Amino acid sequence: QVIRLEDYRPTDFAVHHVDLVFRLGSETTEIEARLTLERRAGTDPAAPLVLDGDDLTLTGVWLGDEALAPPRFDATPDRLTLRELPAAGRFQVTIATRLDPAGNTQLMGLYRSGGVWCTQCEAEGFRRITYFLDRPDVLATYRVRVEADRAAAPVLLSNGNPQDAGDLGGGRHFAVWDDPHPKPSYLFALVAGDLDVLTDRFVTASGRDVALAIYTETGLSARAAYAMDALKRSMRWDEARFGREYDLDIFNIVAISDFNMGAMENKGLNVFNHKYVLLDPDTATDGDYAGVETVIAHEYFHNWTGNRITCRDWFQLCLKEGLTVYRDQEFSADERSAAVKRIASVHGLKAQQFPEDQGPLQHPVRPTRYREINNFYTATVYEKGAELVRMIATILGAERFRAGMDLYFARHDGDAATMEDFLACFEEAGGIDLSQFALWYHQAGTPTLTVRERFEDGRLTLGLEQDLQRGAAGTGTQPMHIPVRFGLVSEGGADLVAEPAAGGAEIDGDVIHLTTPSAEIVFEGLAERPLVSVLRGFSAPVTLRFEQRQEDRLRLARLDPDAFSRWRALTDLVGEHLRNASIARAAGESAAFDARIVDAIIASAEDERLEPALRAQMIAMPGEAEIARLVGQNVDPEAVHEAREAALTTLARRGEATFARVHEAPAATGPFSPDAAAVGRRALRNALLLPLSIASGSPDLAHAAFAASDNMTDRLAALTLLAHRFATEARTRSALDAFFERYERDALVIDKWFTLQATAPVPEAVEAAERLIGHPLFQLANPNRARAVIGGLATGNQRAFNRADGAGYRWVADQLVALDRLNPQTAARLATAFRSWRSFEPRRQSLAMEALRSLAARPDLSRDLADIVERTLA
Ligand code: ARG
Ligand code: ZN
Repeated sequence: QVIRLEDYRPTDFAVHHVDLVFRLGSETTEIEARLTLERRAGTDPAAPLVLDGDDLTLTGVWLGDEALAPPRFDATPDRLTLRELPAAGRFQVTIATRLDPAGNTQLMGLYRSGGVWCTQCEAEGFRRITYFLDRPDVLATYRVRVEADRAAAPVLLSNGNPQDAGDLGGGRHFAVWDDPHPKPSYLFALVAGDLDVLTDRFVTASGRDVALAIYTETGLSARAAYAMDALKRSMRWDEARFGREYDLDIFNIVAISDFNMGAMENKGLNVFNHKYVLLDPDTATDGDYAGVETVIAHEYFHNWTGNRITCRDWFQLCLKEGLTVYRDQEFSADERSAAVKRIASVHGLKAQQFPEDQGPLQHPVRPTRYREINNFYTATVYEKGAELVRMIATILGAERFRAGMDLYFARHDGDAATMEDFLACFEEAGGIDLSQFALWYHQAGTPTLTVRERFEDGRLTLGLEQDLQRGAAGTGTQPMHIPVRFGLVSEGGADLVAEPAAGGAEIDGDVIHLTTPSAEIVFEGLAERPLVSVLRGFSAPVTLRFEQRQEDRLRLARLDPDAFSRWRALTDLVGEHLRNASIARAAGESAAFDARIVDAIIASAEDERLEPALRAQMIAMPGEAEIARLVGQNVDPEAVHEAREAALTTLARRGEATFARVHEAPAATGPFSPDAAAVGRRALRNALLLPLSIASGSPDLAHAAFAASDNMTDRLAALTLLAHRFATEARTRSALDAFFERYERDALVIDKWFTLQATAPVPEAVEAAERLIGHPLFQLANPNRARAVIGGLATGNQRAFNRADGAGYRWVADQLVALDRLNPQTAARLATAFRSWRSFEPRRQSLAMEALRSLAARPDLSRDLADIVERTLA
């Protein structure tokens, strides 16, 4: 069944207030929900109340104090219909349900994770707790009473402020929570269990004293210290940058080990995958620190962009997600290095969103139909959605963008809003028409931006052309508003100021506004031919085609004043070589790696003008999946692998002396610190390990690094290199075993141990993955563990997943069938690994298709997995 945007209409009934009682028991949980309802003005006074359910067991229904019996109501596991309700005024309906949280392996609704009761309600999990108008435009206040055994659950939490608590005798106790902010049901949360806590406090700009708490499994609260620090920095930043203050007296975070996604922004009670809370230098990498900072900020920022202003319907998901990702990206850019952060974001966008937007799972940022909303928590909605907000900021400029945000907060606080509401605020505050820009939300696909340059007699002519092909989503292909940030760079590496001649596209400072299918811009009076630096900061999510002279690109890679553009110039050159070399190899030929490009990479490794983190990003080769995307069609993953290996070998031999010099430069001393400078230094040293090990052909350097490491970043970098390149050596096995023994009891580190083996770029990784799922510590029901092994192979190991005999496809499909029975949402997410199947050579295509078809043919697939499989095949 397909849900369509055009079918949206408000509910007949409003829910003003929800009173919930949870009686948590070791076997079952009893729930009573008393809803205060009222018919909305102008609706049919005889219309029945139809509530959503999912897999529910009803134990009673009351209207006021009167117990109802059929035919006054009608109940199935997924619907409760009530008839003959009052035509006017407020009335109360009470619904009793019974659940088995321990048996809830879907991890949606109320479930138990490691003995802890917890909830996940977005998008449609609340209907697995009680019958409700489970949609984001039904906003109510909530009062929640939780009862449980004190021994099993000394901690009882829900949204809002604590109101009451006490003893019930017989080892039972209770707590009452009150949330004064009207909210949709997807923001409801409850947590109960035996948890440790780390507390702190924050005083808001206007003086509100907020009690902060992060709850963890017992014994782990010390590992929440960095998350707490990130939370306080996020709260301060949102005040300074967007004028947004926190609005309750308490803010709680709970870290849970079984969680489908990263985290959830429930009002006043954020629930997190513990991966995004728990850290210390001995168990977490620098990447994990960055992830915690980002996700803590993201969920906190949702309090305004998501909670106080929520979505009218799920088609508007990007309203809260794209905007909140934009906000967390800006936060990270301010807290760390803006250029490093931007490169990481663009890298992620190209690796995740571009393939999605260019394959069968393509959809617009604001979709108009879906079968299963959980399958739309995608890179397109989140990351491309964030790029669209970034473009609005580029088009309006910082000041008018802030004015638009202020207007949005002022006008829509308390609303369930739409994308159109959001855009209208920027049109008004910016005095600008965004109707063409809005096409970005409706037209799926990655536009191509073609740039041409011509220089004669002091005149530079830039030709710009945009093109959007119709793709799987079948949406329009009209020209869009593409902001192109640019610079004209002198021989000496300075930005030139040149006045554009009249006509052509509109130019505002350093931004060209391309709004037509093509445009020409002429710059006059130039003494020398400038180097053209376009799409600075990746000012629009497009594929850039610019037939620029090789010398110009090499020079820009060395001296573009814009750090992001230097990185882009170099990685584009490397990417192009790897693309060509992969195509050549597939045809049995070879392609030489231009020595000038190789030298540019080597030079960047010791370029003191660049911060170390940037140098690390400049010397990292694009991964195999990225190269496959650049090849685009008829991909032979073996040829890609060999081409990349050959390039690495060339780089390693030619750069060995330089890399060794940089690597041996005394590392900064002092204890571990997660600050950006220290992270950069570690990143650079670890990036050098690979070429240095290839050059020497020996694992000695990696073994030495593994032995000497005093933090997880260095330890994991060394161990991964050993497992991926020196897998057959006995010493590698001992290192893996030593690592396992040391961290056996540490779930998050053991996930890494599983992942690094599943991602070894060898065809036999399929058999290795099969052995890993037989390991006593493998648990299919734990999403992090399932992702570590199945996701490791399917999305982190192009060579093995796309093995020539189809064993990778078949193995993943088999695991998806097993996982789907437990957790459809996680199975569907992992199944998206098949999204690029049509870009491979014909033999692999038919093997992938067979695996997909065998999945599609199963009668018992969940709606989640069936939706992904069918769209991927379509
Ligand atoms: N709103 C959450 C976040 O972006 C994600 C929750 C997604 N949950 C789901 N079941 N799809 O922070
Ligand atoms: Zn979010």
